Amino acid sequence: MNKGLSLLLSAVAVSAFATSAHADINKGQKAYLKQCKNCHGNGTKGAGMHTQDEWAELFEDDAALIIEKHAGTKADKYFGGESFKKLAPDLKDFLFHYGSDSGNVPSCG
Ligand code: HEC
Repeated sequence: MNKGLSLLLSAVAVSAFATSAHADINKGQKAYLKQCKNCHGNGTKGAGMHTQDEWAELFEDDAALIIEKHAGTKADKYFGGESFKKLAPDLKDFLFHYGSDSGNVPSCG
C-alpha cells in the first residue's frame, strides 16, 4: 500500500473511531484490563505488542490467529469461549487504535 493511501485510510479509521465506535474502544480497554493484563501487562504495553496491520491480521477470520497463538496456554479456554467471541470486536478496536505505530497512547490502564 502506498504511504499516502495508508495515511488516508488511518485518518478515516481514526475519525470513524472518534465518532461512532468510541464506546467500543472503551469497552475493549475494559475487556483488555480484565482478560489480558495479568499476562501481557497494562494496555499501553499490550496494544504496543503489535502494529495496527498486525492487530488487523490477528483478528481476521473471527480472530483465528490470536486464538491460535493461545493454544496450549492458560488462556486457551478463554479464547475458545463465548465471552471472547462477543468481546473480540471491541478488543480489536482498542488494540488496533493503540497499536505500536498508531501514535495514540491510552490515558489509563
Ligand atoms: C494466561 C495468560 C494469558 C492471557 C490471559 C492472555 N494471553 Fe496472550 N499470550 C499468552 C502466551 C503464553 C502467549 C504466547 C507466548 C508469547 O508470544 O508471549 C500469548 C501470545 C499472545 C499474542 C501473540 C504475541 C506474538 O508474539 O505474536 C498476542 C497478540 C496476545 N497474546 C494477546 C492477548 C490478548 C489481547 C489477550 C486478552 C484478550 C491475551 N493475550 C490474554 C498468555 C496469555
